[in-house]
Amino acid sequence: MTEKKLANSQLGSLDYDPAPESASIARLKPSYGLFINGEFTDPSRHEQFVTLNPATEETLATVAQASAVDVDAAVSAARKAYETVWSKTTGAERSKYLFRIARLIQERSRELAVVETLDNGKPIRESRDIDIPLAAAHFFYYAGWADKLDHAGFGANPQPIGVAGQIIPWNFPLLMAAWKLAPALAAGNTCVLKPAETTPLSALILAEILQQAELPAGVVNIVTGDGSTGAALVDHRGVDKIAFTGSTDVGRLIQQRVAVSQKRLTLELGGKGANIVFEDAPIDEMIEGIIDGIFFNQGHVCCAGSRLLVQESVADEVLRRLVRRVEQLRLGDPMDKNTDVGAINSAQQLARIEELTEFGESEGATRYTSSCELPEKGYWFAPTVFANVSQSHRIAREEIFGPVLSVLTFRTPEEAVAKANNTNYGLACGVWSEKGSRTLWVAERLSAGVIWANTYNRFDPTSPFGGVRESGFGREGGRHGLEAYLNV
Ligand code: NAI
Ligand code: MG
Repeated sequence: MTEKKLANSQLGSLDYDPAPESASIARLKPSYGLFINGEFTDPSRHEQFVTLNPATEETLATVAQASAVDVDAAVSAARKAYETVWSKTTGAERSKYLFRIARLIQERSRELAVVETLDNGKPIRESRDIDIPLAAAHFFYYAGWADKLDHAGFGANPQPIGVAGQIIPWNFPLLMAAWKLAPALAAGNTCVLKPAETTPLSALILAEILQQAELPAGVVNIVTGDGSTGAALVDHRGVDKIAFTGSTDVGRLIQQRVAVSQKRLTLELGGKGANIVFEDAPIDEMIEGIIDGIFFNQGHVCCAGSRLLVQESVADEVLRRLVRRVEQLRLGDPMDKNTDVGAINSAQQLARIEELTEFGESEGATRYTSSCELPEKGYWFAPTVFANVSQSHRIAREEIFGPVLSVLTFRTPEEAVAKANNTNYGLACGVWSEKGSRTLWVAERLSAGVIWANTYNRFDPTSPFGGVRESGFGREGGRHGLEAYLNV
């Protein structure tokens, strides 16, 4: 080790040699069709779009843009499969298909991780260790429920809803597909899934996996396209249920469209999660938890701990340590196994992050931005912390959906609760304290669907997830996740 490296390591930062994963593992095709009735088909209007690698701006593949005609074909295939096959398949049989899909995801996990990182920009460490294993875990978990629905607490012999239209975002592409498909299939529904336009590829690999698993044709259909494809699915009269994850604005629009129909609806929307830190919290774990809460997946996380509420007595120390830790985060090539912060998913999302952080400065907050170098090509944003944020600032109110943390302070637990709840959202919060009674006191008073204690961003298929207020309604995961796909 050189002298300089030794000095660095004493400061807590080491230089690493590059350790890139190989892009060729992805084995991508130049173009992909729609997945309807068990086959890849050309879109009726032959319209296509490209999906980019946001870290390089290079085209990865051409993907079909589904029109209303294609959506209709997908819904018809799902209806036919529901009536002729899937509703007649026993729970034990459905469970075998789900187990098979879970195992095939595991078998192709390296390829899926590479595809996810190329298409989304997230670090390979995260797609490899979190997205893909959790996607498989969701199929395993719901495979276990498929033959036990009579004992799930929804009465004897609960019935599926029918055809589910499922619209997912770009932040966890394969994982969101798994969250939607696994419970729907376990409960006996058939599906039409619409992936996000910037990240359609892992869903198309999943379509290949469904073929490999010999899932009956039409049980799952995948239609790629932009918001207009999603809107056609929402408006289709043959759809019995819509499940949406994405922005609150689009969620609001969908709720209006669905209001004039009999469709069932679940919405998982945005958030402005508060990570509440008391003076007695163990500081090292807490700093890591704050970092993970906001910089995991570049902050493209609906439940991100994007507001740090720190007790005034420890605020200076927490901020000092936080800024030092931010400086150590390794931003760069998402395919490098040592990368902590990857690329922002799109130029559009980058513009939104830049706009909101400029407001942060002009409204008077103090900005700390990592001095890391940004690659020349691609969409990048250096990890940023704003101190001296007040509740009226836009960066304390609006979802930034990027690697930007707003730090506010409080003195008493009552003040912490009041500030945490001072938001239109209500998806997730974190509480950090050594004292269990205080954690429970605070947790009881927080308006949020998910509350983590002395940890953050912890996901498990057995645990229900979802919001209150403008973060949406309905639960995904766990036994609760079945309810959204059963006629109960
Ligand atoms: P978006 O809500 O527009 O996109 C999510 C999905 O909805 C995509 O598949 C999209 O094609 C589809 N969609 C768009 N318009 C639709 C319509 N009228 N009918 C049916 N489906 C439609 O989100 P976008 O524009 O990608 O991101 C904007 C902001 O939304 C982000 O900055 C972030 O704040 C928030 N967001 C929150 C997410 C979450 O997990 N809660 C995920 C993605 C974005
Ligand atoms: Mg892409």
